[in-house]
Amino acid sequence: MVARRARVAGWGKYVPANVVTNRDLSETLDTSDEWIRSRTGIAERRVAGSDEATASMATIAGRNALAVANVAAEDVDCVLVATCTPDYSMPATANLVQAGLGATRAGACDINAACSGFVYALALGDSCIRAGLFRTVLVIGAETFSRIVDWNDRATCVLFGDGAGALVLRATDEDYGLLATTVGSDGSRADLLLVPGGGSRMPASASTIEDRLHMVRMDGREVFRFAVGVLPRITEQVIAAAGWTLDDVDLFVAHQANVRIIQSAARSLGLPDEKVYVNVHRYGNTSAASIPIALCEAYEEGRLHDGSAVVLAGFGSGLSWAASALRWGPTPGRVGLIAPPGNAFQD
Ligand code: UT7
Repeated sequence: MVARRARVAGWGKYVPANVVTNRDLSETLDTSDEWIRSRTGIAERRVAGSDEATASMATIAGRNALAVANVAAEDVDCVLVATCTPDYSMPATANLVQAGLGATRAGACDINAACSGFVYALALGDSCIRAGLFRTVLVIGAETFSRIVDWNDRATCVLFGDGAGALVLRATDEDYGLLATTVGSDGSRADLLLVPGGGSRMPASASTIEDRLHMVRMDGREVFRFAVGVLPRITEQVIAAAGWTLDDVDLFVAHQANVRIIQSAARSLGLPDEKVYVNVHRYGNTSAASIPIALCEAYEEGRLHDGSAVVLAGFGSGLSWAASALRWGPTPGRVGLIAPPGNAFQD
């Protein structure tokens, strides 16, 4: 018998229907399909429709994940939404998702650790389950970067896309689920990737809008350097904390920002291609949504099985980073809860 922890009971995703290809972008920007593909691996991305925003995408992803887990919305104890593109400064996007799902007994809050946010949210959901506070937590990563990129800035707008992914975490006493997590931050480098305007530091005004200060600014080269250094380091840390070796890892699912970053990390770690998941060519960088979307697609492609040893590794604005070692499964329907569902754990 192992200690109580959180296992993955369900997964779901949503991406907007609207596909924007590199060629589409090259019609309005001084860029090319060749440049974008060779520097990033991205071929196309999804852009939310005018009737969509982060909460609406997150709600669909969450509903899909609950359906896979065969969990009713009323049985969710907490909804955590990792996002840095919320619908509003307040309330949290998670409150809108909780209402949209009909998760009437759930608490809800957002987590902002930018592109690392989903792994942070998983760690928090797992910790609450381990502590006995919750039994069922819906963890969602959702972003609408198309609303905060400067569509005139070719150095950033070609990189990002919109979408949402979700996992249902449930308490288990079996040897599945989140085994170890590591997180970190270096706020002294916050200026490398930020949206300067619209917060309490620089409230919205006519001049912030005129100066395009509500849009993403990034020092791409420095973020690249940071990413290729941090990914192997946190992967090794979390593997050791889980009691695994690199040979034990079945699938490495890193934040999908740039295929060159993922390949560099995999090379440093000595992981072969068949153990490395990549779908950045389809969606670009969807920030906090990229890891859960990647997990859904890895499962659909038959690359995740009961017992698969998976490493999740995120990095991004903050600077921030987070990694988890996860034992995937068991397939929904094969295992019950350790106690009947409810809002808070009552022993
Ligand atoms: O979630 C975390 C978020 N961010 C990241 O992970 C991004 C990390 N950084 C990167 O992925 C890469 O640095 C980029 C893809 C952003 C840029 O690739 P790079 O190889 O570092 O290019 P660069 O910034 O050094 O720019 C090289 C050239 C420049 O022209 P000059 O100065 O050499 O004449 C840029 O102006 O490429 C130019 N350039 C472009 N050209 C065509 C920049 N963006 C584009 C573009 N199309 N879209």
